[in-house]
Amino acid sequence: MINNAKEILEKYGQTHVLSAYERLADDKKEELLNQVLNIDFEKIAELYEKTKTKPTTGNDIIEPISYVDSNKLSEDERENYLSKGDEIIASGKYAVVMVAGGQGTRLGHNGPKGTFDMGLDSHKSLFELFCDKLKTAKDKYGVIIPWYIMTSKENNDDTVKFFEEHDYFGYKDGIKIFFKQGEFPMIDTNGKVIIGENGLIKEAADGHGGLFEAMVRNGVLADMQANGIEWIFSCAVDNPLAKLVDPLLVGYSAENNMKATSVSIVKNSAKERVGILCKRNAKPSVVEYTEITDEMAEAVDENNEFLYGEAHIMMNLFNIDVIEGIAKEKLPYHSAFKKCNYMNESGEMVIAEEPNAYKFETFIFDAFDRLESLGVLRYKREECFAPIKNAEGNDSPETARKLYKDYYNL
Ligand code: UD1
Repeated sequence: MINNAKEILEKYGQTHVLSAYERLADDKKEELLNQVLNIDFEKIAELYEKTKTKPTTGNDIIEPISYVDSNKLSEDERENYLSKGDEIIASGKYAVVMVAGGQGTRLGHNGPKGTFDMGLDSHKSLFELFCDKLKTAKDKYGVIIPWYIMTSKENNDDTVKFFEEHDYFGYKDGIKIFFKQGEFPMIDTNGKVIIGENGLIKEAADGHGGLFEAMVRNGVLADMQANGIEWIFSCAVDNPLAKLVDPLLVGYSAENNMKATSVSIVKNSAKERVGILCKRNAKPSVVEYTEITDEMAEAVDENNEFLYGEAHIMMNLFNIDVIEGIAKEKLPYHSAFKKCNYMNESGEMVIAEEPNAYKFETFIFDAFDRLESLGVLRYKREECFAPIKNAEGNDSPETARKLYKDYYNL
């Protein structure tokens, strides 16, 4: 096994990985060798090359995407969609999947982001606020809507413990499966994999795009199929205004035979840190705020509205039929430059004061171009978006609290 590992590491210029090998306990030695044998070093080399250029839309042909404004539907359309959506939900064909692999680090919160208390008078955590929505839907529809929660290796145990300690907020029958997303090694600016404090290769959560494979790998898809689920709503854990159970979205998608529908809102400024729904090379796509050009971000149409204004807010409905197909092939990785403490070749830990390492993530919305159809249903911002990203300022607990209280008249 060790010879195999050495051969791989030599081939890819990663021999530093074994420099602390002799100092490791036997079980860690085995774990390290297993990592080496299972990691895709070819992919790492390819991704390292890509870090040398800034991500842009390159030669892609980007065009605005068409959308339907949910607030401008005719009475008949609205009623038709609502009754179809109600019927689907009430017959137990609808489930919610939450991507909750992130930590509350940026908020100064120690723990999974879903356990964060945004400072409402009730002091409910984000997870409990979501639970309340599902309990309200249970009363309305007379069915328990299954809630599947994707965690990461980093926060899975804390997440499960949090739910156990709070007796699942009275929704135990509905919380179906906690399942872990995948991981991918981090590398330094020379393309070398980072060694963490346990002497193993440092791996980090591989982005919410890992959702689809994680659903297949962890039996989530099979569980849904066995339970007759047809529509899956996925959303992020950091938006307490997310409509977890929205018959209009479900009915709209079903009646128009959409394989998926993304909820959009109009971005509030050219530089808002949101992804933008668009068409890329004639396929539905999202251009992230990290890759959008100034020209594209600022472009307006003849009515002075943003040409690329449909913000993607991580609220997406998928027909169950598309999940397996998407999961078959890895979504593309994007890199982010982060601070990461590491063990040097002498076995000493080095604390990173500045970003020093690349983390690679896949994104849910990169699956859109694999779909036959994607609907875009526009909502008003105040109905569905109160993101909590930063400790202060924009998209903070303070701004989210105000939006939340206004919406619920608290
Ligand atoms: C994200 C979207 C952006 C959208 C914005 C709306 C990305 C890359 N972009 O930006 O298009 O406009 O939200 O608020 O996501 N998560 C995991 N596992 C991971 C990484 C993230 O489960 O490995 C979860 C987080 O817990 C969170 C959600 O994904 O619930 C969003 O992640 P975050 O990194 O906060 O995204 P943003 O950069 O804010």
